[in-house]
Amino acid sequence: MITIKSEREIELMREAGRLVARVLDMLENEIRPGISTKRLDELAEQFIRDHNAVPSFLNYVPKGESGVTPYPATLCVSINEEVVHGVPSTKRIIHEGEIVSVDCGVYKSGYHGDSARTYIIGEVDPAVRQLVDVTRECLDLGIEQAVEGNRLHDISAAIEKHARSFGYSVIENMVGHGIGSELHEEPAVPNYGRPHTGVKLRSGMTLAIEPMIALGRSRRAVSKRGAWAAVTEDGSYSAHFEHTIAIGKAQAEILTK
Ligand code: MF3
Ligand code: CO
Repeated sequence: MITIKSEREIELMREAGRLVARVLDMLENEIRPGISTKRLDELAEQFIRDHNAVPSFLNYVPKGESGVTPYPATLCVSINEEVVHGVPSTKRIIHEGEIVSVDCGVYKSGYHGDSARTYIIGEVDPAVRQLVDVTRECLDLGIEQAVEGNRLHDISAAIEKHARSFGYSVIENMVGHGIGSELHEEPAVPNYGRPHTGVKLRSGMTLAIEPMIALGRSRRAVSKRGAWAAVTEDGSYSAHFEHTIAIGKAQAEILTK
């Protein structure tokens, strides 16, 4: 079931969303060669708790997957060929030339906000910089479609079209999602699809839109047995941006700004 949020609920989601944005802004100033991904995680968790909120991802267990270990951190920090769900570690030091997706969720006053950005560390290959820029544009173009009267896959198709026009591959087995009092709600929001298909979008629906785009040919992100981190099949770099948005009549409202 897709829930429609009241104005009161959206106001609470704005609060959660704004806090996520502040975490990612804060990390932008901390991330540099030499820092461990674990340190970034500690900074984020402290910041969230200092603002009377709780990390959404910490101890998260995907619904219907009782066998998996609960997610052990506040952030997902996914570097280079890692697509998503990289687990922070004291052993993983960030280096010049890498691209780092930092994904953060917070739970505040009963509602979640969820957002991710890919940071470029120092000088990177121009082709990699372009991947990051285009993935950000994919998110913007998807959000442009997130208006009442459009259909869900209008968002998906806009993302796919832009990515493909650069010859990139869309990661198809990882998707965006509805969000609200639960981190993952219906509907799934794929990053590929046919325009004018899928459920009709209505004002008050809240979605986390999150394109994951790769430089090579990989259309799937795969994990080693028991591991959280999901990587491209061909080892090519991938980028990831995410915003939590509310569908509006004329335009979407970005809640994680
Ligand atoms: N933004 C990601 C998602 O919505 C992060 C989830 S990590 C998890 O799927 F641990 F919470 F699953
Ligand atoms: Co998400």
